[in-house]
Amino acid sequence: MLVAPSILSADFGILAKEVVAVCEAGADLVHVDVMDGHFVPNMTIGPVVVQSVAEVATKPLDVHLMVTDNAFFVELFAPLKPGYISFHYESEHHHHRVAQKIRSYGISPAIVINPATPVSVLEEIVKYVDMVLLMSVNPGFGGQKFIPIYDKIKACKELIEAKNPDCLIEVDGGVNDENVRKLKEAGADVVVAGSYVFGHKDYAAAIKSLKV
Ligand code: DX5
Ligand code: ZN
Repeated sequence: MLVAPSILSADFGILAKEVVAVCEAGADLVHVDVMDGHFVPNMTIGPVVVQSVAEVATKPLDVHLMVTDNAFFVELFAPLKPGYISFHYESEHHHHRVAQKIRSYGISPAIVINPATPVSVLEEIVKYVDMVLLMSVNPGFGGQKFIPIYDKIKACKELIEAKNPDCLIEVDGGVNDENVRKLKEAGADVVVAGSYVFGHKDYAAAIKSLKV
C-alpha cells in the first residue's frame, strides 16, 4: 500500500517541518487538500503556501482539488509540478478537457468521486486518468468517520481492469490501521491519511502500520 499523509491535519504553524517529517517517515506522496469555500464548506491553502511545501517535500505532491473552477486551479498549481492533480467528477462538466489540461503539463491526472456518486460515472473518463480517488468521507474536513466503500472499490477495480489496468485506486477519508487491510483486499493501491498520521506521536510508526 502506498501512503499519502494529508497535510490538512498537520500543524500549519510549522508546516515545512511537518512535510519534511512525513517524507522522512516513509510517506510515498504528500496529499494537499485545496478547498475553495464553494464546492466544499471550507477553505484551505493556495499556491503561495503550497510553493513552500513543494520546496521542502522530497516526495511528489498529490494535489486534491475540491473547487468549482477546476481549469483555473490547475493553472495555479501546475507550475509547482505536483505528481498528481485530482479533480472532482461532481464539480466539472468537461472531465476529459480538464484531464488533458493536467496531462499537458506533464502531471498525472486523477478523478475523484464522493461517497454517494456511483463508480459507473467513471466508465468513459477512466482511460484518460492515472488514478481514481474514491472518497470515504464527504469532502471538506479532516477527522471524519469512515464510510465503508469496500464494494465501490471492488467495482472500481473491475472497471479499471477492463479499461485502464495501470490506473491506481486511492482512498481518502477516515483511513486508519483498522480499515487499511480491508481497503487493500478490496483493491486500493494508495491511502490518504490525515488525522491518523498527524495525530500519532510517531509518524514513522503510523505510516508503517498503513503499509499492508
Ligand atoms: C477531506 C480531505 C481529506 C482529509 C482526510 O476533504 O480530502 O484528505 O484530510 O483526513 P482524515 O484522514 O483525517 O479523514
Ligand atoms: Zn483529500
